[in-house]
Amino acid sequence: MVKIEGLTKSFGTHTLFKDLTLEFPPGDLTVVMGPSGCGKSTLLRCINFLEFFDSGRITIGDVAVQWNAGEAANLPAEKRRMLQQMRLKTGMVFQSFNLFPHLTVLENVTLAPVQVKKMRPNEAAAMSRRILERVGLAEKEDAYPAKLSGGQQQRVAIARGLAMQPEVMLYDEPTSQLDPRLVDEVFNVMRELDNEGMTQIVVTHHVQFAKDVASGVLVFEDGRVEWRELD
Ligand SMILES: Nc1ncnc2c1ncn2[C@@H]1O[C@H](COP(=O)(O)OP(=O)(O)OP(=O)(O)O)[C@@H](O)[C@H]1O
Ligand SMILES: [Mg+2]
Repeated sequence: MVKIEGLTKSFGTHTLFKDLTLEFPPGDLTVVMGPSGCGKSTLLRCINFLEFFDSGRITIGDVAVQWNAGEAANLPAEKRRMLQQMRLKTGMVFQSFNLFPHLTVLENVTLAPVQVKKMRPNEAAAMSRRILERVGLAEKEDAYPAKLSGGQQQRVAIARGLAMQPEVMLYDEPTSQLDPRLVDEVFNVMRELDNEGMTQIVVTHHVQFAKDVASGVLVFEDGRVEWRELD
């Protein structure tokens, strides 16, 4: 479960969220929509503390972090560890795939489990191969990103997120840089994950995908956020 309570976030005098409270049920895929600049990316970045906010409380699974303005300046080691824990609970997929160009597909996926989670390299490789199979890229493990299509690169990026065994996957317009022909292969991976019970929060403009898969859509409008059922 992902919960946001009383989130307030401003950039200078521009207030994006004021006392925003939202709950994302476990195992659901939630789509986030809204006009450019309304704060969709910022919301995802606040959930995993890539972006600090003015105040609020974020809960992911069994870890909750209360945050207040000014804390960043003097962060005690224990709080720093909690933020790290929160970040490890989320896998993030960006518009641009952000793969390491000098590493193979398999190396891209195993890197964080080995370096951050201190997993043994052979265990990380075995796990990563299983994940690459799930995203349909088993035969590409030795390829370099430049040799892959955009859709394949984005599936590697999803595999890389999954390799950290996150409790929630966050996607920021994951298909917006893809040739329209390749959009479905990425959405299909997200559909599969939904069937397997992964909690996913997806910023996308694809209404049809939202209608097909999402249990609810969060719509940002005029400074408000509301849940909407799609028919
Ligand atoms: N680091 C920053 N410093 C100052 N203002 C920022 C910063 N990041 C975002 N903003 C502002 O916050 C608002 C929300 O930005 P955000 O990127 O979250 O919007 P978005 O809904 O993701 O838009 P898009 O659909 O274009 O991706 C915008 O007005 C943006 O200019
Ligand atoms: Mg954005």
